Amino acid sequence: MRLTAESTDPAATTADVLAVPIYREDNEITGDLGALDEATGGRISAAIEWGEFNILEHYTALFEAGPIAADRILLINGVRRGRGPWRARRIASTATRRLQGHGVKRLAIWLRDGEDEDGYAAAGVGAMQGTYRPYAYYGRQRDTPAMLRSVEEVALIGESAPPQEVIDRALAVAEGVEFGRTLANRAANDLYPEKMAEVARGLEADGCAVEVLDVPAMQALGMGALLGVGQGATHEPRLIAVRLPGWEKAAADHRLAIVGKGVCFDSGGISIKPAEKMEEMKHDKSGAAAVIAAARTVARLAPDTPLMAVAPMVENLPGGNAQRPGDVVKAMNGKTIEVTNTDAEGRLILADALHWAETQGATHLVDVATLTGAASIAFGDLISAYFAKPRDWGAQVQAAADATGEWFWEMPLATEYRTAYDSAHADIVNSGSREGSLIKSAVFLHDFVTVPWVHVDIAGSAYLTSDRAVNPKGALGTAVSTLVRLALDYAAG
Ligand code: BES
Ligand code: MN
Ligand code: ZN
Repeated sequence: MRLTAESTDPAATTADVLAVPIYREDNEITGDLGALDEATGGRISAAIEWGEFNILEHYTALFEAGPIAADRILLINGVRRGRGPWRARRIASTATRRLQGHGVKRLAIWLRDGEDEDGYAAAGVGAMQGTYRPYAYYGRQRDTPAMLRSVEEVALIGESAPPQEVIDRALAVAEGVEFGRTLANRAANDLYPEKMAEVARGLEADGCAVEVLDVPAMQALGMGALLGVGQGATHEPRLIAVRLPGWEKAAADHRLAIVGKGVCFDSGGISIKPAEKMEEMKHDKSGAAAVIAAARTVARLAPDTPLMAVAPMVENLPGGNAQRPGDVVKAMNGKTIEVTNTDAEGRLILADALHWAETQGATHLVDVATLTGAASIAFGDLISAYFAKPRDWGAQVQAAADATGEWFWEMPLATEYRTAYDSAHADIVNSGSREGSLIKSAVFLHDFVTVPWVHVDIAGSAYLTSDRAVNPKGALGTAVSTLVRLALDYAAG
């Protein structure tokens, strides 16, 4: 897909299709929209009045454009006015997704409201995101060549188009999002820990140093929390570390490690999950996929960034050697953990991975994890929940998310809840009570970090459980664009 940004009037823009966002506030077709409607000979208002377009629902309508330069108009509804990058990204994604298979050579997407550079870049990421087809990775039967046709060129049009380098950078980020998304979608029989290590070694081509710790190496380091989770599976655990060239050169007080939960499959272990929808737990590696994809993207855009991605990889399975409820393990930081629920495995692998990252010199940490069902219950699939200590480090993550069109929301790190983890037999249990369990999961991790840290729970936002207008069912590449932006800003600041 080619991508450009152009400061042209929508009515004067040549294209096979002109995408036009309609806001909930557009009850009357006036102002900028009224001008375009008039240029089309009233076709937009006619389509809406005729009932082709529902202004209240997430909806698209495609019709002939009449006298303007574009051949057709695609109305896109469902966003509020003024959400900036988030809004622009979703409009663009809906447009290219809706037009998949239609042989569109040139699509113009009108960004109303004068987006800034971040808005255009987010729209670029969205446009590419909308062409993503999860079926393409393994599928062989269903797609005809015509169905595989994506929009060939997207022109983002508005009042203040940024220079092409901004657009090219957006394409690089979009590629990273797609890379992470495909990793997160891959089946657990295909992408197990050592396979993820092979993928990570591929980043050597981008100038990264890739280290993979195997079981004996992790035993030597005392990573009992991580190893306990992985001991039931035939596929052995691995700890992957990807360092950018800038990591070694960095000042000692300025190194960012991004740590991603990499549970290739989460059956729950002996505390086994219900069969219903268990297949979705192949996405429990979405955090690891995100940090590896972000590292690759930053390595290509700014290799001198002081960044390391860490991905603890395991399969959580029951079996003759599986961890039992009641087992006590010792984490690398010396704390003993009573495993009261083998399904609370993400925090166990993160405990060791976060601590290890600190021993490698990380001065700032961000972890990304599909950690709790509670995050999905509370936030649904649009929003990622995060916890920060200190909160101004969280504000930097929030700013990166806002700038790239991801919706992050802060939750309180209420360490007062630490007593929920008191154990009769060890320093801490791994599963507290149900009440407040989203907050409590972050409180558990807090025991294993000592430097500025943000924990992002993407359990709800990492993947969709059904097709939508904006994205298809499956992984979304959540957090990739935010982590890339955070790392670039971190290097600059
Ligand atoms: N991977 C799950 C969390 C999850 C649930 C992600 C649903 C995506 C959708 C995690 O390992 C888990 O099982 N968490 C438990 C923790 C509990 C046992 C303390 C949960 O949330 O129920
Ligand atoms: Mn689990
Ligand atoms: Zn899990």
